[in-house]
Amino acid sequence: MPQPTLPPAKLLINNRWVESESGATFATTNPATGEEICMVAEAGAADVDKAVQAAREAFDGMRWRRMPASEKGRLLLKLADLIEKHADELAQLEALDNGKPVAVAKAVDVAAAASCFRYFGGWADKVQGKTIPIDGNFFCYTRHEPVGVVGQIIPWNFPVMMLAWKLAPALATGNTVVLKPAEQTPLSALRIGELILEAGFPKGVVNILPGFGPTAGAAIASHMDVNKVAFTGSTEVGRIIMAAAANSNLKRVTLELGGKSANVVFADCDLDDAVNGAHNGLFFNQGQSCIAGSRVFVEEKIYAEFVEKSAAKARGRVVGDPFDPKTEQGPQVDQVQLDRIMGYVERGRNDGARLVCGGERLPGPGYFMQPTVFADVQDEMAIAREEIFGPVMSIIPFRSVHEVVERANSSIYGLAAAVWTRDIKKAHTVAHGLQAGTVFVNCYNVLDTRAPFGGFKQSGIGRELGEYGLQQYTEVKTVTVRL
Ligand code: NAI
Ligand code: MG
Repeated sequence: MPQPTLPPAKLLINNRWVESESGATFATTNPATGEEICMVAEAGAADVDKAVQAAREAFDGMRWRRMPASEKGRLLLKLADLIEKHADELAQLEALDNGKPVAVAKAVDVAAAASCFRYFGGWADKVQGKTIPIDGNFFCYTRHEPVGVVGQIIPWNFPVMMLAWKLAPALATGNTVVLKPAEQTPLSALRIGELILEAGFPKGVVNILPGFGPTAGAAIASHMDVNKVAFTGSTEVGRIIMAAAANSNLKRVTLELGGKSANVVFADCDLDDAVNGAHNGLFFNQGQSCIAGSRVFVEEKIYAEFVEKSAAKARGRVVGDPFDPKTEQGPQVDQVQLDRIMGYVERGRNDGARLVCGGERLPGPGYFMQPTVFADVQDEMAIAREEIFGPVMSIIPFRSVHEVVERANSSIYGLAAAVWTRDIKKAHTVAHGLQAGTVFVNCYNVLDTRAPFGGFKQSGIGRELGEYGLQQYTEVKTVTVRL
């Protein structure tokens, strides 16, 4: 197994690597073995204060504010180049810390991170206001100004990609940032911290604080001098963050939360295509994806065949060492997640769903489990309602278009959905009827930096990526001049 050089296991504050004020550290582990990789400095409220102060000084100071937008763009482009230059090493860190297959980490996570910094680097000098013909003898125009100091809290499922989705638009619009990676996966963020220094970002513009949610994360969300908090993670914590924002300084909040995405397969689809698409839509990233197509609705006429083919495909999925190029599925991220997922498998069985394959954890070490498929799942079962966040597919039969749209929408979530059909009218009608921020037609998991992403209902607030994503990082100012 390649051993990537580990980044500094410290906090990055004001362009310096420092220990935490308390001296506390925590272990980050390799999910494939359960062994400790290294100890990392653990940020607490005092460190958040220091980092926010550094970000505030950077925001108010001249080095960042007066830097031409085109220069900010060049820094982001440089960072994109550095990420590509170090793609192998970043992918190895990601595989080591998260357990995802290294080849996938390189092709998807690291490539998407570079693409995101490049895309938003291009936007930096194209963020424009409007002139507005108001009544009277006035000249009225808008400016899109940065929000200020932005706190960003990210999860462990796509560590480097989530970092890019958060940092790139914030920096392109001139904000400064305090970012907390997830406690399970701090390493790639720390390596990006080194690359940020190498690219030449002024001090205090990006501060990176590994640490835990209820301490460091909560301190960010409730901080009186943080102007916005952007979060990706569970709906439960999203609620806590929104409350913290409401009870402190009414900081702006954007949230990307959980999902229970419906994948609707009609009898007139290309069946093998749909089976493959549903497989990738659910099992990708060990099932640890917020857009996982975890409710697979299949029209009755093809139901039996679809179940059989999906089970065969799941049985053939290669589970193993993330550093083996043949591996398709690595371990779950930690024992907590594995236990949670196995709890849902148990509930599925007890509730009377039909287990067609998998359902067992694999002998340790490491947090591996079998790709699992349940059929004959009913809408009210826990495995059809709650986010499992693991390699567990639930297949549910349906009869008609109207019925399936209603059942698909009967969820507190609304992140993604998909529809498989050869009928163009049905495809668009169903796509319009589904309550979800992203609807895939005859494909799944096609995300792109240029297209907005986010949730309806309890899947979130706001959009990331694309031009829409920029709007979440600016305040619109109206300037009215009497002529
Ligand atoms: P989580 O929501 O607790 O963690 C996500 C991030 O929030 C981490 O950086 C964590 O340190 C931070 N955090 C936790 N509590 C916080 C608090 N009180 N204040 C501020 N920040 C806080 O998610 P967790 O526990 O890792 O996973 C639990 C479930 O959440 C998963 O099984 C999955 O269903 C869902 N989840 C969804 C994700 C998504 O992409 N939408 C990503 C990760 C988890
Ligand atoms: Mg780890």
